[in-house]
Amino acid sequence: MNKIAQIFESLEYGPAPEGADQANAWLDAKGRKFGHFINGEWTAPGKVFASTNPANGQKLADITDGTADDVDAAVKAARKAFGGWSKLSGYKRGKYLYAIARMIQKHSRLFAVLETMDNGKPIRESRDADIPLVARHFYHHAGWATHLDREFPDHAPYGVCGQIIPWNFPLLMLAWKVAPALAAGNTVVLKPAEFTSLTALLLADICDRVGLPKGVVNIVTGEGDTGAAIVNHPDVDKIAFTGSTEVGKIIREATAGSGKGLSLELGGKSPYIVFEDADLDSAVEGLVEAIWFNQGQVCCAGSRLLVQESIEERFIAKLKARMAKLRVGDPLDKSIDIGALVAPVQVERIRDLMKRGVAEGAVVYEADGALPEKGCFLKPALVTNVSPANTLVAEEIFGPVLVAMSFRTPDEAIALANNTRYGLAATVWTENVNLALDIAPKIRAGVVWINGTNQFDAAVGFGGYKESGFGREGGREGMGAYLKPNWEKDLKKAQAVPAIAATAAKNPLDGGIDQTAKMYIGGKQARPDSAYNRPVLGPKGELVGEVGDGNRKDIRNAVEKARGALSWGTTAAHTRAQILYFLAENLEYRRDEFAARIKAQTGVDGGEEVDLSIERIFAFAGWADKYDGAVHNPPMRAVAAAMVEPLGVMGIIAPPSRPLLGSIALIAPALAMGNSVVLVPSERSPLSMTDFYQVLETSDVPAGVINIVTGDSVALAKTLAEHDGVDGVWFAGPAEGSAMVEKASAGNVKQTWTTRGFDFDWAHPRFAGEYFLGKATQIKNVWIPYGA
Ligand code: NAI
Ligand code: MG
Repeated sequence: MNKIAQIFESLEYGPAPEGADQANAWLDAKGRKFGHFINGEWTAPGKVFASTNPANGQKLADITDGTADDVDAAVKAARKAFGGWSKLSGYKRGKYLYAIARMIQKHSRLFAVLETMDNGKPIRESRDADIPLVARHFYHHAGWATHLDREFPDHAPYGVCGQIIPWNFPLLMLAWKVAPALAAGNTVVLKPAEFTSLTALLLADICDRVGLPKGVVNIVTGEGDTGAAIVNHPDVDKIAFTGSTEVGKIIREATAGSGKGLSLELGGKSPYIVFEDADLDSAVEGLVEAIWFNQGQVCCAGSRLLVQESIEERFIAKLKARMAKLRVGDPLDKSIDIGALVAPVQVERIRDLMKRGVAEGAVVYEADGALPEKGCFLKPALVTNVSPANTLVAEEIFGPVLVAMSFRTPDEAIALANNTRYGLAATVWTENVNLALDIAPKIRAGVVWINGTNQFDAAVGFGGYKESGFGREGGREGMGAYLKPNWEKDLKKAQAVPAIAATAAKNPLDGGIDQTAKMYIGGKQARPDSAYNRPVLGPKGELVGEVGDGNRKDIRNAVEKARGALSWGTTAAHTRAQILYFLAENLEYRRDEFAARIKAQTGVDGGEEVDLSIERIFAFAGWADKYDGAVHNPPMRAVAAAMVEPLGVMGIIAPPSRPLLGSIALIAPALAMGNSVVLVPSERSPLSMTDFYQVLETSDVPAGVINIVTGDSVALAKTLAEHDGVDGVWFAGPAEGSAMVEKASAGNVKQTWTTRGFDFDWAHPRFAGEYFLGKATQIKNVWIPYGA
């Protein structure tokens, strides 16, 4: 038989390699040895390490391991460039971004080939997914730059942004971070991942070619310690990180108390849910994309298959048939499906995890077929026979390994889907639109794909819930993350509140006050677990009351009740508004009593503060049904519904001043947006809020939605910040307490907001709107395809 006839018979693919000439020519032109790109110039190479092609182990170039001095030089260049860059008109900045986008398109093949050589991902993916999306991000943000003044009035860029990115989508992660930062008027110091620096360095060349002002983009290469030097540099104003949850937590702790802005895009273990009425063949194709795209090295990989029991056998059989056809091989070959993993250590990491999983009872299926003889290749694997506690179910594997479990009912699917510390993404397959749209809001994840998977666009925010991090990239949310309100820079340090000495030493046996204000937990008055009380003193040191001295146990009880009241978040916004209006009305009835109580605690007539508090509750009642999402229009046949969701349970530590308004200013937006709250009222003047529970009781606020624990603010804040059942903490108080809250929140990567010891004017109308609404919510993007 001649060759053509043979091929016709076997239907074997022939090799179809993409040419590497251009990429090699660029590397050669650069001498295959790189320094950093700082202040628009290339520095001389320092101590170097190799960047290799993981498909064949060949060295591609030497890269400089950045030192703290290199980072410092880059930060200085960025600082120097900031003034001019931020003062350019948005239109002019937009034109630079547009020019970069055009250059990326023009050289897209070069970028794609270089990315594939350095990272090992199939050329089909770098060519059709990574690089087009990179260009799209620069285009999209060129547009934002021109509209910032209208869309984000009274906002300013942060300044110098430190950006640290991973190796799985090297240039794409750069684009997600650099494009919005520059659009907003920030300058950047970016560190690519040590395995994959080359396309970032090529982009530096492009910045140079388009004449981007010197110092606006600085690229410093290196390993983890180079990243740490950026994180810890005192003149960096914001850190944006994508990478492992482990390093994300280190960065959260390192930046605590520094005042640096922070966004964290961390790991995931995303569920891929297939219901019995799904189009199974499409669901299998989707799954290939979900878990074998980029060899599974994707933070939002659909790595946990949850399949309905009634179709489990059929679906798994189809999946195995499909797995047998997946072609693992040379990433530069246009007809392979799965390329090389990024580096030998990653292959080892995955093998170790697999060994642990198997020892715990997992069964691994791998399709037949040979792997290339050398290079970082693994076969696609399907893991079954696992319990929810199995290592392979719980840990992010970041490799071509799918773990399968079954469920019986939609409720069970949701419970399994949410049974993870992560919350990045989820996929739902069903032909039943009612079921899909019922499931999507119940999954705790930042992105939900219906009948599709791994869809991304610059207009649609991307980011996580829970330990997958906080902050969004893309969309309006992502743009806003690089801007901050102008008034923040005018804040003054709060005066330390002078301690008041009790006028008379108190013998605990005297019990000068016959009634001790109780705490309020789960809709009931509660005595403190410690059985101790704290005196509340008036302005002259006189005893005006007593409250319980709350402790860790009281907080735990309160959090438990707050978690039990999470259905507040799915109560109709109109209903929440009604209840808040009613609350305001009932407070108004008791205006004089509350005014007198403020006066007793502070010496200041409280009438105005009560009125402001009533008005503030009214304001947020009004917001409850208006602060809603958007429908995005990405360039595919889909809409993405950006849904505003509450954080969940919030711990709120009220400021020492303004006994009533200080608490109301913070709890009103949290409640309006559907959070349940554990409130620690003013440590010094807690009686206004312990009185408040009587208003709550008459206002139909469901039990557990607001819980009040009195006591030592900082001690209670620490317990809240460390508690895994708390999703967000707001702390209004001194700088040290703020730093402590930020640090202690790293455990489950909670969102925090703190006053950092600054003086906030709680009465200011700027706090009656979006400022707190945004902080009390997170956005979930639900992708819904259309078309017959
Ligand atoms: P990594 O989180 O250590 O690396 C990400 C980036 O952070 C790199 O640029 C690295 O140099 C830098 N970095 C490391 N330590 C740092 C520190 N202390 N301060 C500042 N920057 C630091 O991730 P790695 O080690 O490359 O991969 C290990 C595992 O992490 C993967 O197997 C995967 O499970 C997970 N991972 C998840 C990613 C995601 O997007 N969800 C991305 C990368 C890794
Ligand atoms: Mg490499």
